[in-house]
Amino acid sequence: MADIMGGDSNRKGSRRKKYVPGLACIKFSPDDYWSPDEAQRLYEGSRHPSLDQDTIRFEDCIQGMERMLPNTVDLVVADPPFGIDFSGKEAVYNRNQDLVVDSYQEVDADYGEFTERWMALLHKVMKPQATAYVFSGWNHLEDVLRGARLGGFTTINHIIWKYQFGVFTKKKFVTSHYHVLLLAKDPNKYYFNKMEHYPLDVWDIKRKYKAGEAKNGTTLPLEVVKRCIVFSSKPGDLVFDPFMGMGTTAVAAKGIWRHFFGFEKNENLKHLIDERITKITPGEEYASLEERIREIRDEARKKYPLAYKVFLKESGGRIDAES
Ligand SMILES: C[S@@+](CC[C@H](N)C(=O)[O-])C[C@H]1O[C@@H](n2cnc3c(N)ncnc32)[C@H](O)[C@@H]1O
Repeated sequence: MADIMGGDSNRKGSRRKKYVPGLACIKFSPDDYWSPDEAQRLYEGSRHPSLDQDTIRFEDCIQGMERMLPNTVDLVVADPPFGIDFSGKEAVYNRNQDLVVDSYQEVDADYGEFTERWMALLHKVMKPQATAYVFSGWNHLEDVLRGARLGGFTTINHIIWKYQFGVFTKKKFVTSHYHVLLLAKDPNKYYFNKMEHYPLDVWDIKRKYKAGEAKNGTTLPLEVVKRCIVFSSKPGDLVFDPFMGMGTTAVAAKGIWRHFFGFEKNENLKHLIDERITKITPGEEYASLEERIREIRDEARKKYPLAYKVFLKESGGRIDAES
């Protein structure tokens, strides 16, 4: 008979261990993991023949996706234009206006109609097991949710990415979050590699800003994009981004042994994207299982100091992957 806590009160002799909050997080190890050598082999041996892998096309993504074959990409990271005039706000993020790349290409068509079109095409180019992480500010969330529904997607998660600052306001709260929808083409088939024991749908990740660096005011942090890629693809997979901006998806993918492909409407960004992509060597950011487990345990140590003490006692002081 189950007790009110869901346990089995009739089980004789079962000595249940005391529940220690956070202990399972510290002990966690992912199911799917590839050593750096295996990841490199998968990357070098994988070909995505229907397109020029590891390239970015400077054209409209709607026209581009119309020409792409169906079922070709393993994962999508899409950060579409906001549909608002961002030019005034870039001056706030970048005090030296000369460093702001003339980059932001606005949507001419009605935003809802534009969203509906690109999301339907996105569905076509995704493989059945593929997922899409679609970024949206709150102002156009309604259009993106509608585009996802009409495009035939199933929403798996509605993630909030919380960052540390927003544009100064006088008469309302400062916006310091973004919505990230995790969408599946097939809710029964989609790939998800659980990389943490308890991965929350609120991501607290800082936006970085280096003074004196040329940038597009809308560039995503690499950490956010890498998190999407690590949880939802395998080494050698093809990550597609229809709105490359400064090429963050390409840089993140290449750094962890994934291939990339994408579109960007604004050719002015080409030299900056090329510079970023050539700076990174394939796989240089790929973490071994040992490193990943150390990272997990280090985070857990800060969050759950008591559980960490219990863990050290149980493992005889060892914190490596073998313990
Ligand atoms: C929000 S930004 C993407 C930023 C990017 N995630 C990064 O980290 O750099 C959106 C980008 O989409 C581009 N864009 C707008 N409409 C487009 C279209 N129809 N096809 C391709 N790119 C487009 C804009 O020029 C802009 O660079």
